[in-house]
Amino acid sequence: MPARTLSLAAILSATGSHIAGWRDPACAADGAVNIRRYIEEAQLAEAAKFDLVFLADSLALKLASADELSRTSNSIAMLEPMTALAAMAMMTQRIGLVATVSTTYTEPYNLARQFASLDHISGGRAGWNLVTGANPAEAANFSRTSQAAHDDRYARAEEYIDVAKALWDSWDDGALVVNKPGGRYFRPEALGVPNHQGQHFTVRGPLNVMRPPQGHPVIFQAGSSGPGVELAARTADCVFTQQRGIEPAREFYAKLKARVAAHGRDPDTVRLLPGLVPFVAASQAEAEDKFAQLQALVDPAVGIQILSAVVGGGIDLSSYDIDGPVPELPQTEGMQTFQANLLTAARLEGLTLRALYLRYAAGFGHWRVIGSATQVADMIEEAFTTGAADGFAISSPVLPGSLRDFAELVVPLLQRRGLFRRDYAGATLRDHLGLARPVRQAPAAQAIAV
Ligand SMILES: Cc1cc2nc3c(=O)[nH]c(=O)nc-3n(C[C@H](O)[C@H](O)[C@H](O)COP(=O)(O)O)c2cc1C
Repeated sequence: MPARTLSLAAILSATGSHIAGWRDPACAADGAVNIRRYIEEAQLAEAAKFDLVFLADSLALKLASADELSRTSNSIAMLEPMTALAAMAMMTQRIGLVATVSTTYTEPYNLARQFASLDHISGGRAGWNLVTGANPAEAANFSRTSQAAHDDRYARAEEYIDVAKALWDSWDDGALVVNKPGGRYFRPEALGVPNHQGQHFTVRGPLNVMRPPQGHPVIFQAGSSGPGVELAARTADCVFTQQRGIEPAREFYAKLKARVAAHGRDPDTVRLLPGLVPFVAASQAEAEDKFAQLQALVDPAVGIQILSAVVGGGIDLSSYDIDGPVPELPQTEGMQTFQANLLTAARLEGLTLRALYLRYAAGFGHWRVIGSATQVADMIEEAFTTGAADGFAISSPVLPGSLRDFAELVVPLLQRRGLFRRDYAGATLRDHLGLARPVRQAPAAQAIAV
């Protein structure tokens, strides 16, 4: 059994995860319209032997005025992830290609086609980050007057993923025979018809894209609430999570793995990757400087607007004293874990609204580390070896600058300590993550009946 090693994901976006990162000289800042940026960053991550690159997604801009929105790059514009990943697939060889697609505003048949195609195009490197869509502004873009309730979104997601998997199992491996003399294009016994009938979906199938090289693309899940954990424990291969630090991360790790076991699965077959925002430099002082310079660029109006969207639960916090305490707030129907983590930090540390938006501005409230390469590698090693993580989703504050710093300064240390690969052993994303290829659940029906 090979030694357990770290999994590293590189989160790519138009400019990076720090709210003011786009104003930093090390930020290219035209990623929203320039596929070359994504390709360069994917090649950078591949050269550092990352498992995958990940493109987050949202289906709407935030609820704010054009003036307010024009002061930030956060979730303003990007290239649609599946389209961008197909281009990146042609310019990379080994790195995994993972995108977010919402189960609330899409249909399983379209999604199954897109990810099966990306898996064929990339030679087995596709992954799907299943989200239910936390941005309330999305509903208005899909002919709906309001966002579905949090738990209802998860109920739909539970059925959605089962339909997608059944569609990927429509075809057996090696179905295509192209027997020209015999007049057979594919093996008829290799095709099945899912005929799904459920509460949310009626999907006959089969899929008109053949079985993906990985069997199924790798399934990621990013919710940590009760319904989020249940969905992940039953269906996910990998779980992204937002954690405040090593102790809460250990608690969540134990909880998730216990739920995986409760669903009859081997906990080692599900990898847990908390988000991590590294500010790294040759020395701690230099790293602190980098961090302070970025924090100084945060526009208070932007800070409070973005914080309101996550913790406000619909309440605009700009009417409160920015240097006063964080008020009691109703539970959001959006990202419940993000809200809970930020409000817990505010309560435990006595943070003001200003301090809290600055906390969120530096990488969406994800676990943050500021230090020299050795200090960052030590933190990662401790988390990996003491039951807090199987790896990390590296959320670079400034792109491409911070990703390059991490790849050049921290990765070699992790490799030298035997914690991270020096080279890819396999070709597919499942190979990189040490995940088995799912066995096909062949549908019973073979005839596409009217
Ligand atoms: C690393 C990471 C990446 C995420 N990416 C997305 C994304 O691309 N789009 C999205 O709508 N939500 C994204 N989320 C948010 C989750 O989908 C979810 O809303 C959030 O974790 C709260 O889930 P909960 O309500 O189950 O607690 C991400 C979360 C994490 C931890």
